[in-house]
Amino acid sequence: MFETLSLLPDDPILSLVTAFQQDNNRHKIDLGAGVYKDETGTAPILNSVKDAENRYLSVQKTKNYTGIAGDPDFNRCMENLLFGNQHPAQQAQRLSTLQTPGSSGGLYLAAQLIARSNPKTTVWMSNPTWDNHYAIFAAAGLRTAAYPYYRIGQQAVDFAEMLETLNSQAQAGDVVLLHGCCHNPSGSDLSAQQWRELTTLVLAKGLVPVIDQAYQGFGQGLQEDAYGIRYMAEHLPELIISASCSKNFTLYRERTGCISVLSSNSSQKLQIVSQLQAIARSCYSIPPANGAAIVKTILMDSSSTQAWQDEVETMRLRLLAMRTQLAAQLQQKQQRVDFSYLLKQQGMFSFLPLSTPQITALREQHGIYMLVSGRISFTGLTTANIGYTADAIAAAVMQ
Ligand code: LMR
Repeated sequence: MFETLSLLPDDPILSLVTAFQQDNNRHKIDLGAGVYKDETGTAPILNSVKDAENRYLSVQKTKNYTGIAGDPDFNRCMENLLFGNQHPAQQAQRLSTLQTPGSSGGLYLAAQLIARSNPKTTVWMSNPTWDNHYAIFAAAGLRTAAYPYYRIGQQAVDFAEMLETLNSQAQAGDVVLLHGCCHNPSGSDLSAQQWRELTTLVLAKGLVPVIDQAYQGFGQGLQEDAYGIRYMAEHLPELIISASCSKNFTLYRERTGCISVLSSNSSQKLQIVSQLQAIARSCYSIPPANGAAIVKTILMDSSSTQAWQDEVETMRLRLLAMRTQLAAQLQQKQQRVDFSYLLKQQGMFSFLPLSTPQITALREQHGIYMLVSGRISFTGLTTANIGYTADAIAAAVMQ
């Protein structure tokens, strides 16, 4: 049977994580995966997370199954984090939220739910987007298409082109996949005004947005980064959010996240939840419990919440400092490329205008790892390695 299987290419992001871990170069620098690292180059567990985990484990009495939808307290806390307390959609009982294994799990449920509701729909994705978006939606048998988003050359969102394509080509019932904040891979986000204009178009055309919220807290702040979600949820009949706790709670391998489906009225909730539960049951049965228990332990206690928010802000500010310093050093060390665009972008990522041979040379000669697309994650930069990194990138650009 297995002789029919072909060999598939490695995942471009996770294979880089492994390659970096296996590299013995003591001076290696990881600008690959979107994993927060501190000034010592380690991916830390936040103190608030460690504290909550210790507290939770000391009172944990059972490892019995949970429900398919996960922990109701976690789901309620996540709704508040995403939508803000007392959002009109919550008050109208129009949100159905289920715990999922990370945001990949949430996107998987979203894709399968869409395929069950409207198998003929096309899922429109930003060009470029996170590679795995295509794989997840295609696996549900859905048609995918790209809308223009990041214009290389201008290093910014081409919002007019984005609107024009969606307006002229998307059909009623089609899905638009959006990044809630800190666009992955470009770091270029929609402004508040653009979120509002997009909402008007989506409403007029009868499109359904799916918002992937993986980096809340790393752009402008935890509340500010939820602007698009909250605005759309106030003005649209239907919306799906898939959220991750990997980055802002440093829970990567704990696979913690949720899906929140906004329906046009509260009576659809029963059907939606039953379908989502059936999809989850046929795949992973129930979501992993540990990460969700940590998150709810933090979010149900105001002083733990404050401690966590402070740590998220520390991560955000460190990333911003690395972004600002890299831009300044690249401006100073070479004259060919104007790197000031890096300052208009936010979150963990931006593109560098490098060719594949330049990217390979940076890795082989300098131990600097980045995706073949030229996406860098600022998380691997430290005060100690930023000068060396800027020298190597500036030299590559000047070749
Ligand atoms: C990334 O884009 O680097 C992260 O979201 C990690 C992943 O799962 O791809």
